[in-house]
Amino acid sequence: MPDARNPWWRDAVVYQVYPRSFQDSDGDGEGDLAGVARRLDHVASLGVDAVWLSPIYPSPMADGGYDVSDYEDVDPRFGTLADFDAFLARAHARGMRVLMDVVPCHTSIEHRWFREHPDRYVWSDRDGPQNNWIGTFGGPAWSKDPRSGRWYLHSFYPEQPDLDWRNPEVRQAMPRALGFWVDRGVDGFRVDAIDRLMKDPELRDDPPATGPPALPLHPEHATLEHVHSRNAPDVGVALAALRAGAGDGTLLVGEVYLPSAGLGPYLEHLDVAFAFELFHSQWNVAAVRAAIEAALDPAGPAGRVAWVLSNHDFPRLPDRVGHGNERAAALLALTLPGTVFVYQGDEIGMADGPGGDPPRDRWGRDAFRHPMRWDDAEPHGGFTTGDPWLPSTPAEGGAVATQEANPASLLHLYRDLIALRRSFAPGFELLDAPEGVLAFRRGEHVVVLNLGPGEAPAPPAKEVVRHTHGATGKAPDRLGRGEGFVSKG
Ligand code: GLC
Repeated sequence: MPDARNPWWRDAVVYQVYPRSFQDSDGDGEGDLAGVARRLDHVASLGVDAVWLSPIYPSPMADGGYDVSDYEDVDPRFGTLADFDAFLARAHARGMRVLMDVVPCHTSIEHRWFREHPDRYVWSDRDGPQNNWIGTFGGPAWSKDPRSGRWYLHSFYPEQPDLDWRNPEVRQAMPRALGFWVDRGVDGFRVDAIDRLMKDPELRDDPPATGPPALPLHPEHATLEHVHSRNAPDVGVALAALRAGAGDGTLLVGEVYLPSAGLGPYLEHLDVAFAFELFHSQWNVAAVRAAIEAALDPAGPAGRVAWVLSNHDFPRLPDRVGHGNERAAALLALTLPGTVFVYQGDEIGMADGPGGDPPRDRWGRDAFRHPMRWDDAEPHGGFTTGDPWLPSTPAEGGAVATQEANPASLLHLYRDLIALRRSFAPGFELLDAPEGVLAFRRGEHVVVLNLGPGEAPAPPAKEVVRHTHGATGKAPDRLGRGEGFVSKG
């Protein structure tokens, strides 16, 4: 079991880098590790504790690198193992830890295991799909392998065959890959799609859905109740193997796509799991309060969650919470108790872009993955000197360079809130507040934010130490849409 006393990640801020879109260093139009290393001063200047890299492994890129063809190397488009070591050393030298992304549910269909060790995968025993399961991105979850003529399971794209975690060989082989990176100095892993690791041993049909899904799903995927295709009760067997590979001191953050109440079995082996209810919450007080309460429920995850409001899979923050609410979203995420993840570009308010033409991701997620915007005065916002793999799109409040020079910018708000959270004493309590306003106590501080569609009265507060938009000092009587503050008492 992980050390529960005072781990480094307890209230840590983790910055998600999507390497393909962060910084290109060689002019090929795609970001790379040398580019990430070059931009680490920006990341460090935010005051974050750690960097999470989305996958950098060799991959045919059918799913943006989440189709891994070798777990123990770096894709040439991102550089070499030596580049990785150099990046890691630079991050560590700046006091930041590094998290990799591990993808244990499936490999790329081009991983050598698929040919050399077919028993490590899930196969149908008939000439056709074994059951009615539907893939996460729509379509049947079974495809025919043209070489062997057999049908294999894929919870995601057909290029991502599912591993059979009931096979002890898988439970030995995959954890070894975690050890490979831990030995190089990696501090933790974000564990991908982990609720898909273990399925019903009999591969029974999923029944039809009886209502809307608890968390947003592809419409076709949502027609079934996923009682057999995921989240098997004995998932602990697989998780224990991953924990053994990572070692006790290594942070394991689960991408468990379930409501908070279902996280218990995962948290027996992982340190924290993403709080997806808050991520997908409607932007109103009742829904946000309920999502926070569910994540902090002593009978549920009891706060062992990683707060996250944005990542590479869903529309960007301004498009989800509403343009004008980005500052309130930052205030919310960065003041809750626990680990918090910030997706690259959130700190400058990047919104959805037009995506790729032709699309790079078949499920339409290009729009959330446009290159980081460094400097509006440079070609492609300073991302590349070449032809960017996705167009560079400006951020409403300007690029990093512009916002850096403006103390009233969103970028400065991120930096100040990350510094401020360090001074919060323990303790959390949701408070009563006027309609449309969310308020909670963090130790001696009080956080107040207007989640309503218009102006709202502010609850009485003492000295404001950070306001989303305006002055500190005397607390305001009213809050405009998307406004909020932290006060001392
Ligand atoms: C996770 C990743 C997503 C990927 C999927 C399959 O949800 O965040 O990008 O497509 O897993 O690996």
